[in-house]
Amino acid sequence: GAAELGPYRHYMQKEIFEQPRAIGDTLEGVEAIAPELFGDGAAQVFAEIDKVLILACGTSSYSGMTAKYWLESIAKVPAQVEVASEYRYRDSVPDPKTLVVTISQSGETADTLAALKHARSLGMTNTLTICNVSTSAMVRECKLAYITRAGVEIGVASTKAFTTQLAGLFLLTLALAKVRGHLTAEAEADHLKAMRHLPVALQAVLALEPQVIAWAEDFASKENALFLGRGLHYPIALEGALKLKEISYIHAEAYPAGELKHGPLALVTSAMPVVTVAPNDALLEKLKSNIQEVKARGGQLYVFADADTRIESDAGVHVIRMPEHYGALSPILHVVPLQLLAYHTACARGTDVDKPRNLAKSVTVE
Ligand code: G6P
Repeated sequence: GAAELGPYRHYMQKEIFEQPRAIGDTLEGVEAIAPELFGDGAAQVFAEIDKVLILACGTSSYSGMTAKYWLESIAKVPAQVEVASEYRYRDSVPDPKTLVVTISQSGETADTLAALKHARSLGMTNTLTICNVSTSAMVRECKLAYITRAGVEIGVASTKAFTTQLAGLFLLTLALAKVRGHLTAEAEADHLKAMRHLPVALQAVLALEPQVIAWAEDFASKENALFLGRGLHYPIALEGALKLKEISYIHAEAYPAGELKHGPLALVTSAMPVVTVAPNDALLEKLKSNIQEVKARGGQLYVFADADTRIESDAGVHVIRMPEHYGALSPILHVVPLQLLAYHTACARGTDVDKPRNLAKSVTVE
């Protein structure tokens, strides 16, 4: 009810603004990186495995895609991400030296549970979940777990569950890196320091809300939007597009930035804004010239720039600059203005933000 919402108009907005607290709680008590953060027996499991298979649905699959980049670059572990509903029904090549990682807010998603059981039936018994509900079926079914502390999430479109999953997956990356000898004491201290700074960093990003509202007014009259990201930020572009689809009903697609010229550029007009997540200066120059080519057709670039880029607003180029440069943790910060953009665009269109049509918070049947 209204009392619980406090100053917020919707649960989604409240949950977006709870992220500094949710991340702080999720990382509370983490003084050092150790396998035991994931449960008894984790040290042995982590020493036995030589690859990671991530299974999840929806927004949770995008935190998994982000983790793939971390796992391969920081922990040097080969990682594969698969949508649970695909994995459960296809022939795949099982390897018993795989750590199967499921990611789920609810811990009750039917496809993710079925994918987990399928992996186990193929002989992959080293299972770990990143989950927000400690009493869920997923936590019961997995050998190891990290419980995120987002708290109850009411908005159907996931926000704080996503960023807390990323925090849990970053810890998993560091724990695997340490076991495998890829984490120096100095790097561990630096990563822990950056993680402790997240609540304050998130607060500063949330303060960008008025600038995002101004963009949302432009987006509200559009029927299509394109999101671009690269590397760690490609999954964030996917998540930004998903948020916009789910609650504003604007058709949105995400592409890895380098693919723009291989197809979607043909769609760019004044009616198809291009949102770019955290590009570096070199990439931005390329994107700007791509957009210049479609300038005659009114192409508009909306850039969520990193603090260490020099890009300025210009004709056809709108820029919101992030307060800091966040290194490896950047996806956790960069997704927040995308959540706000979807939220305020939906508000401007007058949709039922917390209960979008045709969607359920948790899909417990196929
Ligand atoms: C539904 C929800 C999404 C969520 C997905 C996976 O589609 O609307 O927000 O990402 O299920 O849910 P889970 O609880 O497994 O993370």
